[in-house]
Amino acid sequence: MKQSKRHVSREVGLEIGHLLGKGLFRLDHLHYGLWKKGLEPDVLNLHIAQEEYCKFIIAHIPAEVKSIIDVGCGAGAFSKKLVDLGYNVDCVCPTEYQNKIVEELLGDSSEVFKCKFEDVQTDKKYDMVMFCESFQYIKLEYVIDKAVSLVKPGGYMLICDFFKKYSPDLCCVRGGHKLDKFEATLETSPFEIIEDVDITEQTAPNIDILNHITQDVMFPVIGAVEKLVHSRHPLVLKLIKWKYRKKIAKAEQKYLHSNRTGEDFAYYKTYRLFLCRRTK
Ligand SMILES: C[S@@+](CC[C@H](N)C(=O)[O-])C[C@H]1O[C@@H](n2cnc3c(N)ncnc32)[C@H](O)[C@@H]1O
Repeated sequence: MKQSKRHVSREVGLEIGHLLGKGLFRLDHLHYGLWKKGLEPDVLNLHIAQEEYCKFIIAHIPAEVKSIIDVGCGAGAFSKKLVDLGYNVDCVCPTEYQNKIVEELLGDSSEVFKCKFEDVQTDKKYDMVMFCESFQYIKLEYVIDKAVSLVKPGGYMLICDFFKKYSPDLCCVRGGHKLDKFEATLETSPFEIIEDVDITEQTAPNIDILNHITQDVMFPVIGAVEKLVHSRHPLVLKLIKWKYRKKIAKAEQKYLHSNRTGEDFAYYKTYRLFLCRRTK
């Protein structure tokens, strides 16, 4: 199936994020970190904050849950953690790059559905369907109905992700379903919310860290490379800059000149854990 340009660039972004994160900062996961009081918001502590995020989710898995479908499992590190804790875990992973890593990591212990969540075909029913920062990528009109079809009656849906609080959403970070639209959709479904935990404050520092990396590392590195290319191939550089002028201007506006702060994120977005139970 032909994939949209936006989908491809998002997936390539996740791949680059995973390679850099793992190679430079020992990060196993693609989700935000959960910054507990006392943990300094520093990129070198991000792996600790990501582990805190995993612990937080694990602490909210109901005791009777044995089987889980991990939707948008990323590089599979969290699924593996759950397998090691004794859960039966299957994964949904729509990207080729991540599929290979996940299959190697999980071996025969899990079935990996190599497609989008919307396209999963199976007769299996799970005790819990889990979206760990992947809910926002799936259209609201499909995601809840699909989750219902995969969860046993009395089973659970756990969502840990951010949502938009306001419309228009002028946040420095894109993404997230509109909270009110999500709640309205849920109301017409067989799920009822049994836990709703707001972790916006503990996740907002991720944006300050990201901002530091882009402003103080990424852009200066690009500037240094630009100087080098200019000294050797000035005309080629001029041509490239002209050809991609709109994209360059957009990136500069997004990463250099916008208000990319945790405070801005916390104003426009709300990061929540929703544990929902299928009542019918
Ligand atoms: C921010 S990452 C989170 C990954 C992982 N859950 C974690 O916590 O590290 C979002 C994930 O959602 C996946 N994703 C995007 N669109 C999807 C879809 N339609 N169905 C299933 N997964 C999707 C991406 O491939 C990516 O792995």
